[in-house]
Amino acid sequence: MTNNSLFAYIQDVYAPVDDERTDSELSVIGEIPKDISGAYVQNNPNPQFPPQGLYHWFDGDGMIHGVQLHEGSATYRNRYVQTKGFVEEEEKKASLWKGILEPFDPSSKRPFDKDTANTDLIFHNGQLLATWWLSGQPYAVDPVTFETKGAEDFGGTLGDMTIAAHPKLDPRTGELIVFGYNPYKRPYLTGGVISKDGLVTHRADLNCPIPSLFHDIAITPNYTIFLDLPMFWDVERLKQGKRRVRFDRERPARFGVMPRYDDGKDCQWFTLPSCYIYHTINAHEERDDQGNIVVVMTACRIENPLPQCDHDEEPAIPRLFFLRLHPYLYEFRFNLGTGEASQHQLDDAPTEFPRINDDYIGVKSKWAYHPRVAKEKTLLFDGFIKYNTQTGENEHVVYGEGRIGGETVFVPRPNAQGEDDGYITTFVRDRRKERSELVIYDAQTLSLAAQVVIPRRVPFGFHAHWAPN
Ligand SMILES: [Fe+2]
Repeated sequence: MTNNSLFAYIQDVYAPVDDERTDSELSVIGEIPKDISGAYVQNNPNPQFPPQGLYHWFDGDGMIHGVQLHEGSATYRNRYVQTKGFVEEEEKKASLWKGILEPFDPSSKRPFDKDTANTDLIFHNGQLLATWWLSGQPYAVDPVTFETKGAEDFGGTLGDMTIAAHPKLDPRTGELIVFGYNPYKRPYLTGGVISKDGLVTHRADLNCPIPSLFHDIAITPNYTIFLDLPMFWDVERLKQGKRRVRFDRERPARFGVMPRYDDGKDCQWFTLPSCYIYHTINAHEERDDQGNIVVVMTACRIENPLPQCDHDEEPAIPRLFFLRLHPYLYEFRFNLGTGEASQHQLDDAPTEFPRINDDYIGVKSKWAYHPRVAKEKTLLFDGFIKYNTQTGENEHVVYGEGRIGGETVFVPRPNAQGEDDGYITTFVRDRRKERSELVIYDAQTLSLAAQVVIPRRVPFGFHAHWAPN
């Protein structure tokens, strides 16, 4: 995307919808498996009012779109996440915040950025938590009605911590492992643990040298892996009220492996060649021949997130403003005994928004489901790839001419007999039609089991989650 397309992420498939609705008894092509019960939910940026000035995809108010499945029937609904900023603008009937591409007043007492909670969703302690890429206060959402219950402070234990998108739920303990960041003041990065019943039990302050553009973490049963990558906010520009992100090709990528309950002082840092990573896939612990613990992580790694020059020399690579979105499947190894780190690429297909069977988060897994990056100027997915993340072997599913999909979420079959015994679900839309579908694939055979027809288009959005009934 070049600079003359500054509104690309508010048009076409990204255009907001202007109502909240509920549609029951959706028609189905094929048959919804009877053993699937729960909701596929996705968080989308959906600006309530036209933006003041330039619009970035991360600016729009959070809106949850979801399809609930139960005993073969399906219901669609969409609701805004009623953040404080959303409610204030709704009352004033106007946009009160400018987006992140516009300057702000560094002396202002109000928050510089509107926390839209528009990026991610996770089901924890009986509720959905909507979170934001730039880190803020999570919003609790009813998993059935999608009504906002309010800003979640975890019984007052959150303190001044913020929580960014992509917290990780440990399926063994029910703990939510979180991180937060603040480019405006130190410590730029914090980590935390929230108990299965919703109390913050641990906090870590990480001493990072620069305010990086943190976006994701990975976990194992004993460690949290932080990604401190050389894409960072220009501190001097922030002081002037301008947000500028820089990428330093000469600066190494830093990976912090911290014991889960540490306060940050025992985080062990590893360096590798510069890169950017939006999303991890999974991590687990192994032992080397000497008995040292090795943390193995998989992620979608972008070698060079900035174009080499202003010319659009690679039209097949999508852009999010100046960022090239060209990530590939990589494995990383961090040896806690020797301090050595290594990486290697497992495949050469560009993919993003990777997901696994969430029951395997933190332990050795084999299968991941990656939306496939389409050869377009903006980020779109034209299919998905089922990866063997241990070997890079893969199978592609293509949605077909003019059809695009969202994040592919794995739904385990009840009493599943293996890691990939379940379904893959996502929204798919024919760009030429004002309707969408929730598609359900068998995760083992990759055959299409059902297309649940949603009588409205669902905009192309951010992250999705499965909320079990
Ligand atoms: Fe993300």
